[in-house]
This record gives sequence, structure tokens and C-alpha cells, in this order.
Amino acid sequence: MYPAHSSPLILGAMLTGSGAPDDERAWLDEQEPANASINPDWYSSVAQCLDRAGLSFLFIADAVFADPDGPPHYLSRFEPLSLLSFLAARTQRIGLVGTFSTSYNEPYNLARKLMSLDHLSQGRCAWNLVTSLGDRAARNFGLDSQHDHHTRYARAEEFLNVVRGLWHSYAPDALSRDRHSGRYVDKEKISALNHHGTFFHVAGPLNIEPSCQREPAIFQAGQSSHGQQLAARSADVVFGMQTDMNAALAYRASLATYQRQLGVERQPPVLLMKLMLHVTDDDVTPECAFADYAAQHCVLDELRERVGRAVQRSLTTAEADLTPITEADILHAHANEGTWLSEPLREARQRGATMGQALQQLFRLKALVFAGSVQHIATQMEQWQRSGAADGFIIQISSQRGAHQLAENLLPELRRRGLFAAISNQPSTLRQTLGLAEPALPS
Ligand SMILES: Cc1cc2nc3c(=O)[nH]c(=O)nc-3n(C[C@H](O)[C@H](O)[C@H](O)COP(=O)(O)O)c2cc1C
Repeated sequence: MYPAHSSPLILGAMLTGSGAPDDERAWLDEQEPANASINPDWYSSVAQCLDRAGLSFLFIADAVFADPDGPPHYLSRFEPLSLLSFLAARTQRIGLVGTFSTSYNEPYNLARKLMSLDHLSQGRCAWNLVTSLGDRAARNFGLDSQHDHHTRYARAEEFLNVVRGLWHSYAPDALSRDRHSGRYVDKEKISALNHHGTFFHVAGPLNIEPSCQREPAIFQAGQSSHGQQLAARSADVVFGMQTDMNAALAYRASLATYQRQLGVERQPPVLLMKLMLHVTDDDVTPECAFADYAAQHCVLDELRERVGRAVQRSLTTAEADLTPITEADILHAHANEGTWLSEPLREARQRGATMGQALQQLFRLKALVFAGSVQHIATQMEQWQRSGAADGFIIQISSQRGAHQLAENLLPELRRRGLFAAISNQPSTLRQTLGLAEPALPS
């Protein structure tokens, strides 16, 4: 048994404006602007509501390509650093987590940008480190196809080491700015990096000093062996996408095993599950609430489209349901969506299942959905946390109504049960909000 990392719960909101996988029809809601993904007022309204309510952090997912067949939010959305800088100025306490790829950035530029956001937000910034999936992104950066999975993660490891090294270019008191003596800087407290590795050659030092939280927190969501090893070594927080408690416990145990095998002596990462919420009136049963959610978002149709895009063949016909799962389907799924899709497809192929049978299974596996009354949802959250399956949740939000339900109904109920921290007026860095230890010096 792996005990819960922290109590109270950690809760973040993944903002998906006009609709992303699992809520692609969000833009049809007449109460919301159809262009929410690119609407500053929509972001301000949602962020301020959740900030006032004391939510732990906002999360902006990202990719560096557009797929005309993709979900609305992916067609036109803000670059995360620009958006988070805007939200930093409009919020007080909430954490600001942005997604940046180690495959399509340079460490010096990113180290500088993230440290700038950390200063601008007074220590509320975190980096969701991704290696980026699919060839579409690669073709925007002078490549014909993406680097293989192993190379992407090897580059990610080195990238992160360089970024952290640069963040420690200056001792905290290097810039003494002593007007009395006329000494602005203690040069002996600045170190060059002089990194010469497989992917990068970076001299350093970085041209910005450390922030009040010393360095932005590191988030990661790798599910593969490479991804988990990176998380075990370096992540403060990991996002899981497991849909049952046993699978989540196994994921946490696997991260702990990697930490032991790699000899990592750091706090185990905070484990947050990706979650869809569907809040209903008290008299609606959880089964009806789930059916209502699935119908509202056309979840099975959406799944057919998404898996079809990944395996690169149409899955919207009855005939497609009867086809076998091929090795090519699995390879395409792995390249375009990663292990969450390729592993269940591989397992279904081994069982001799048809594509239709695999889709039915994925329908239940694909997303963790808590649907029902506020009390029912709070009880489910409590069960996941008490069993050690999660330290909290990353909740997908694509409407102002969803943000208000979370702020005004669910958080008060969680507080009533002692499961979520009281609203504080004190400034807090994101590391403090997440209960993280001081970051260790980079090796
Ligand atoms: C909640 C959550 C959010 C994610 N956000 C992003 C994202 O914004 N951009 C991205 O490229 N990948 C994102 N991913 C995918 C992961 O970074 C990772 O690539 C995926 O889980 C597959 O694992 P692997 O890379 O170890 O194969 C996310 C995953 C989860 C569970």
C-alpha cells in the first residue's frame, strides 16, 4: 500500500475553452462564447473565479501543430506562456502550469521564459514537460518525422538537466545591489554551466536570477517506461490517466519502484488523476448522470473519431467495427497518441478482439468521469485519496458554468469534509501550495 502523498487534496483545472477530447462539443453550449479558446475575457473570468475559490492551479495543455480534423480547442488556441503571463496579472494566488516541449525548444530560451513567468507571478509557475507526439509537430521544425520515443526522452532528460542547471546560475544572494558600496553583483556567486552533452552545448550563465520559489515546479505525464523514469527522477507532480483505483495504485507503485531502482532520493511525485466532472441535481442517480454526460458529449462518436485519427483509418462505419486490429494500427496509435491507446489496442489484438470490441472497452477505460450530485462526487474523490490512488485531480474545464460549479458547490463540500484547504489571503508560492520540499541542487 502506498499512502496518499498529501492531505488535503490538490486540485487543478485544465482549461480547454471550446472543447478538447472528452468534451469536444463544449463550443455548442449557448451560455459560452463559441470562441472561448481564443477569448481573453473567457480565460479571465474562469481564472478569477477559480483563484478566488482557492483552487491549487490552472493548467494549459499544448501541442505545436494544428490538425484540421482535431477538436475545436486544438484548432485555435493561445500559446501557453503568453496566456499564463496574462493570467498572472489577473490572479493573486493560483498556480500557473504551462506545457512546453523538450523536442521543439532550446533549453536556454525556455529556462529564461519560465523563470521570467515565475518572477512575474511571484513564484506561481510550473512547467509541464512533454516530449510531444506525432509527426505533424516535427514537420513544423524542419524534420520529416518525429524522433523515436527513446531519443525524445533522452533529449528530455538532458534538456531538463540543462534548464535546472541554468536556473542555478546565480546563488540566491549573487545580486547584492549594495548601493552603499556601489557593488551590484558578487561575481564569484555566478556560475557558468559549460554543458557539453549529446543534444546540447550550453555555456550559461542564465541572464535572470532565481525567483522566490527558487525554481518553477516540474510537472510530467509520461506513462511509458521512459516517461515514468523521467518522472521518478525529476517530477514534482505527475498526471495519471488511470480510470480505476487499482490501476492508479499500480502506477504509483511503478513510479516508486523506478525511484528505488534508480536510487532517487527525493519526495515521490504528487499524483493527480485527469478527471471529467459532470455535476447534476441531488436526485439524479450516478448511472443516469454518466449516461447524460456521455450523450451530451457524444463520447462514443468522439472516441471513434479520435482513435480513427490516431490509427489513420476511418472507424465511423459499422463495417470498421468488424475489422481486426492490425500491427499497423498499434504502431500508428503509439506514434500519434502514446501508450494509453497503443497498449489497450495491443492487448485487444492479442485477445483476437475486433476494432468494435476494442472501442467498447476503451469507452469505459478512456476517461475518469465523476458524474452525479456534489455529495456523490466528493465521496468518490475522498475514496480515491484515502485509498492512496490519487493525491488530487486535474479537472477539465471548458465552461464558466463548470468553473462556478467547482468553486461554489464542490469546493465548499470538500472543505466541509476537511478534504480541501481553506481559502487563504496570504501569498503562497506554487511549491508551498503543493506541499513540495525545497528543490535539491541539480547534480
Ligand atoms: C493530464 C494529461 C495532460 C497532458 N498534456 C499534454 C500536453 O499538453 N501536451 C502533450 O504533448 N502531451 C500531453 N500529455 C501526454 C503526456 O505528456 C505523455 O506523452 C503521454 O501520457 C504518453 O506517455 P509517454 O510519453 O510516456 O508514452 C498529457 C497527459 C496527461 C495524462
